Amino acid sequence: MDHFHYVGGELYCQQVRLSEVAAEFGTPLYVYSRTTLEEHYDRFAQAFAPLDPLICFAAKACSNIEVLRVLVQRGAGIDVVSGGELHRARLAGCPGERIVFAGVGKSDHEVREALTTGTPPSTGGPPGEPIRTFNVESEQEYESIAMAARSLGVRAHAALRVNPSIDLKTHEYLHTAARDAKFGVDMHHARTLLRKFHAEKHLRLTGLHVHLGSLIHDTRPYVQAINECLTLIDELASDGIRIESLDIGGGFGADYVTGEAMPAAEYARAIVPLLEQRVRNGLKIILEPGRSIAANAGVLLTRVMFVKRGPQKKFVIVDAGMNTLVRPALYDAFHFIWPASVSPQHEPVRRQSSPDMPGLETADVVGPICESGDFLAKDRLLPAVGRGELLSVFTSGAYGMAMASRYNSHPLPAEVMIEGSRARLVRRREDYRDLVAHELPETTQIFDGRTAARRSET
Ligand code: LLP
Repeated sequence: MDHFHYVGGELYCQQVRLSEVAAEFGTPLYVYSRTTLEEHYDRFAQAFAPLDPLICFAAKACSNIEVLRVLVQRGAGIDVVSGGELHRARLAGCPGERIVFAGVGKSDHEVREALTTGTPPSTGGPPGEPIRTFNVESEQEYESIAMAARSLGVRAHAALRVNPSIDLKTHEYLHTAARDAKFGVDMHHARTLLRKFHAEKHLRLTGLHVHLGSLIHDTRPYVQAINECLTLIDELASDGIRIESLDIGGGFGADYVTGEAMPAAEYARAIVPLLEQRVRNGLKIILEPGRSIAANAGVLLTRVMFVKRGPQKKFVIVDAGMNTLVRPALYDAFHFIWPASVSPQHEPVRRQSSPDMPGLETADVVGPICESGDFLAKDRLLPAVGRGELLSVFTSGAYGMAMASRYNSHPLPAEVMIEGSRARLVRRREDYRDLVAHELPETTQIFDGRTAARRSET
């Protein structure tokens, strides 16, 4: 199971025993394997090497600065969708040339930060450079970014996100290319916008971007979308309009159950032949994988608080809930859960939904949040566990901590990076001071009509 494995019934990440890490840093705790992050990135880079692409890790999957830094040092760029993610990318040392900025609703403030070096270091911001490109999702958005570029006197690049309306077999919330999706523009409208704005001085619209959705265990949607983009590129070329880059987004699967997803090489086998010649003719290819790199590079460690038997069910109540990992509650997602210390007969060799072992019991693994939807697993076969035991929730590196909340006023958990034989705290656990820091009297302010009137006088 990547670099998370059992030795003598004990779960290790690389050379580090996770029960010791949990004892040191507490639970709930996100733990990342540096080696897995690096290997997953390298697999992508090798598989797509014939296209010499820019691989921009989707920061939304796991935005911890140190996770981003590991990937940036490996050669990755970063796909950001907010000023906050841009701030993180710059703190992680990502050169502007390797940052792409997507999202349907970028604010004027975020756009200005991306067009310039961001917040000056004197105000706590990291030193930065203007980004490589905006992935633009509407005509109005294009115009507002172009206006900002004009007023700043800078020249920037944009790619248009197109929506080829492709049917995907994935959870409806993870499907972004449906005909009624809010993302991108349809192919017909795309043609018009690219003709209109491609040569605009301050914001050249010279790229195409397509992201179909997430957890796509099939190469056909990619092939279809890329072919549609290439047709559009050829049509524009016959009008003398040259498209310089094609960003094919992310969405590549990850193994929540061992063997469920295709390796990067298999996606590449279908995609590379479509684009090789185009790359030789000067087309730049960009990829935005998130989950396929981070999901199996992280686990969530949580401790059993109580075991409770109801009339129909057994509940294992743990200290992580929908506030810590929302995927089961939100998407009915499966995460393999297993104790971090087990007897030899219960040592799992792979992530599977119904382990074929003696002496397992069915239970719901639930959190402390006051909602019935607060569960990590339902009707799950598990070895018998008791109070204080440590459980590992696998495949939690993507959309785990990144989607965690403080619901029910639980401070956010800590994050640890395993590097060889050591564990490094890369985000300290929040405490109650953090929880209320923005609500204390000295941070609140009063606004009334008189304040407004005074402002308009000055
Ligand atoms: N590029 C764009 C424009 C995206 O919107 C996304 C993900 C990605 C790249 C990365 O996709 P990936 O390779 O990670 O599938 N919270 C959900 C997943 C939402 C994905 C949103 N966009 C989950 O936990 O399953």
